[in-house]
Order: sequence, then C-alpha cells, then structure tokens
Amino acid sequence: MLFFIDTANLDHIREAAELGILDGVTTNPSLMAKEGISGEKEILKHYRTICEIVGEGRDVSAEVISTDFNGMVAEGKKLAEVHENIVVKVPMIKDGVKAIAHFTEIGIRTNCTLVFSAGQAILAAKAGATYVSPFIGRIDDISWDGMQLIEDIYKIYDITGYETAILAASIRNPLHIVQAAKAGADVVTCPLSAILGLLNHPLTDIGLEKFLADYKKVNG
Ligand code: E4P
Repeated sequence: MLFFIDTANLDHIREAAELGILDGVTTNPSLMAKEGISGEKEILKHYRTICEIVGEGRDVSAEVISTDFNGMVAEGKKLAEVHENIVVKVPMIKDGVKAIAHFTEIGIRTNCTLVFSAGQAILAAKAGATYVSPFIGRIDDISWDGMQLIEDIYKIYDITGYETAILAASIRNPLHIVQAAKAGADVVTCPLSAILGLLNHPLTDIGLEKFLADYKKVNG
C-alpha cells in the first residue's frame, strides 16, 4: 500500500519525505488556501516545488477549480505541464467524468475526488481514472461507515477487473490507515499527524527505556 501525504504544507511534505516512506502527495483547494497560496502563477509554482521535494516517480494530485468540461480540460492540461509527477484531480460530477475520460484518452493521469458511493467509484473507473478517492472521514462524520465503502469498491474492482487504484482519502487518524490497508486500499493519503501516529505504542517506549537503563547499569 502506498503512502501519500494530504497537505500543501511544504514542511510537512519535507518531514514525511525525510522519513523515507512517502510515495506521493494529494492537495485540494482548501489545503492550498490554508497555506495562503493564491493566483495561477503562485499555485503552479507551489505544485512544482512540491514535485521537486518528493522527487521523481511520486504522484502529486493537483485539483482543478473549473466545474465545466472545457474549463477542466484547459486547467488540467496546464497543471499536467508543470511536472511529470502531476496527477489532475477532478471532482465526481457529470462534466468531471467526461473530463476524466478525455484525459485518459490523451494520456493525462487523473484522481477522481469527492467520491462517496460505490456507484460513483464505478463511473470513475469506467472513465479510466488513475485513482479514485473515497472520503472515509467525511462519511464517518455523518455517522455512516467510511471503511465499508473501501471494502465495497475493492470487491467491485476485483470482480470487474477495473484498474483504477483505490486511494483512501479524508483519513483522520492512524486507525483509519490500518483499517484502509485491511479493506484493500491501494493508497492512503493522510495528514502528517496520522502518519506519525502510527509510530506510537506505550510498550515500545517502556521497552526502550528498560533496554537503555539495563545498558547503562553495566556500561555506566
Ligand atoms: C483528498 O484527496 C482530500 O484532499 C482530503 O483527503 C480531504 O480530507 P478532509 O475530509 O480531512 O478534508
């Protein structure tokens, strides 16, 4: 399972990359706004910087703002030109599906975002999306079962042979990562806090403290 970081924060991206476990990055307009990135020039520059930090072969999802076919295609092409790592992120709407099918045809990779049902995931795969992004946390937020959706999509893609990768998004905590792995997600995209949270176990801390104390007893 691949690990993406879900942020536009350069320090967080650097920290995850330095850990040596980072396979890619996802961003969205809210995350870009959080970092104060605005205006086409600055936005494209920020995506280029992210691509350079993560290095070759690591996918970076950059989302279109347009909601009509022509707008999404024009924007997507511009984003794809920034760097070969760029994957164009397109919302799950009618024109979005059409744009994904077009991008597939012309060889631009896509991430179909804002997916909340298995039916939407089927459409994304039919259009040839490289990734489909079911939003686990936001489904849990309304008291539905986000992880069940990952299981359903996994089963459908397995039966049908769709090649779209399941990118579990809207991950909020380390347990989500473990559950997404068990449910068959190909990728998890998560904030740095959830990635670092995987490190924690009190028995690791207690065990290490004891090892170091015992070493000190005989070595001074
Ligand atoms: C996915 O690509 C989105 O950027 C993201 O995972 C949304 O997460 P949120 O629901 O925590 O905003």
